[in-house]
Amino acid sequence: MYWEKELETIDRRALESLQLDRLNSSLRQAVKSPGYCRIPEISKIVKSGMTSIAQLGELPFTTKEDLRQGFPWGFLSMDKKNVVRLHSSSGTTGNPTVVYHNREDLQSWANLMARSLFSAGIRDTDVFQNMSGYGLFTGGLGFQYGVEKLGCLSIPSGAGNSLRQIKLMRDFGTTVAHAIPSYLGRLFEVFKDEGLDPRQDTQLHTLVIGAEPHSEEHRRRIEELFGVKAYNSFGLSEMNGPGVAFECTEQNGLHVWEDAYVVEIIDPLTLQPVAAGEIGELVMTTLDRQAMPLIRYRTRDLTRFIPGPCRCGRTHRRLDRIAGRSDDMFIIKGCNIFPMQIEGVLLKLPEVGDDYRIIIETIADQDEMLIEVEVKKQWFTGDLDFLAKLENHIARLIRDEVLVRPLIKLVEPGSIPKSEGKAVRVFDHRQR
Ligand code: COA
Ligand code: AMP
Ligand code: ZN
Repeated sequence: MYWEKELETIDRRALESLQLDRLNSSLRQAVKSPGYCRIPEISKIVKSGMTSIAQLGELPFTTKEDLRQGFPWGFLSMDKKNVVRLHSSSGTTGNPTVVYHNREDLQSWANLMARSLFSAGIRDTDVFQNMSGYGLFTGGLGFQYGVEKLGCLSIPSGAGNSLRQIKLMRDFGTTVAHAIPSYLGRLFEVFKDEGLDPRQDTQLHTLVIGAEPHSEEHRRRIEELFGVKAYNSFGLSEMNGPGVAFECTEQNGLHVWEDAYVVEIIDPLTLQPVAAGEIGELVMTTLDRQAMPLIRYRTRDLTRFIPGPCRCGRTHRRLDRIAGRSDDMFIIKGCNIFPMQIEGVLLKLPEVGDDYRIIIETIADQDEMLIEVEVKKQWFTGDLDFLAKLENHIARLIRDEVLVRPLIKLVEPGSIPKSEGKAVRVFDHRQR
């Protein structure tokens, strides 16, 4: 059993007062970092103390750009010797975003994860296979620690190698697995190719799906293909990773753990709070992080609060599934990509011309990224060998930058149609 009943079903007034206490100590901790100590509004409020959560609205937002500019230690709030882990975004062209954790941070993250998994009906009797990338991706270790805390038998299989995933599932009787939704289409095809049906030939009863946007229809299709219940898991590395918001067995929105985060939803243009139940950008403040508290972090994810109480009895509010982003980041194969990262790689190459475009589509049940790249006239010769080598070289450089290997198509200068007004670089033809 792993149900923090008192905290999860806490009365809203008591929750707000708990949040206020935690917020004050979080701000005191945050102001120890070089990044926050120079913000006068924060120093001022730390001196006087906050008397209501609403005062948070007087503080400035923190953005990904702030974290990048503060790289590497700008938002660290304690001596480095007490930090035990970091997670970092991909990228070599600019500064990545890095998040640090001390021991207590990792414990409370594992707690949030264990509580989340329990809320989706997962128990210590389950065999849990985690098909997320390990290493710097938070979906690996984030799930791992939570699953161990809950007490399941864990199989840290990591991403990739579908045949082996299936073998592990069958050898050890996996009952629950975590994967990104788009990968499950590919996995199902490999089951079919092997003459297997996951409904008959595995003991799976639950899938945890997350890390990328997906629709209700996509969830239902996954449930149908695998004969399971599928639960949505939301998180972002800046807020730890998974374990921020999770669907309970009601499957009607994701409880966001409000004893660990203050959640605001704002209009990304006016930066003011949206009306109750309206879609806007999610802004989060950490309440229990010591190594790197973050204040009013703009996640860029668009969502809304689902009004009313949940039938499960938990009082923490529910977020609707993510409806999109307020920036141009897209996610493919569970990897986050900013078009600027790709442009950064391309523009460094002397052979590359003026234009490029990124086309994302689903080919044979796998999401793929095709990049058409204009080559300068003097390089666009009939030398096919040279062009093939250049394609390979570009694919490799981009894979190093964003972790996904793209398909590269070199094209003649001037052949990519120009868009009117602001250049449109990304064409996403996936159906989700
Ligand atoms: N999760 C698990 N496996 C995946 C995957 C995903 N998101 N995306 C692709 N794969 C599998 C492919 O099916 C393939 O295995 P198979 O041929 O045995 O079926 C293998 O990984 C390599 O696929 P490929 O298309 O060649 O990948 P790539 O080189 O373009 O990308 C990955 C490499 C898949 C390893 C990289 O995209 C990755 O690590 N993704 C996981 C990200 C993740 O876990 N995100 C969660 C963050 S919380
Ligand atoms: P990362 O920091 O690499 O873990 O990526 C976090 C981002 O992944 C979030 O800001 C979202 O854009 C996206 N994401 C994570 N979980 C989900 C989910 N369940 N649904 C939609 N998008 C998600
Ligand atoms: Zn619920």
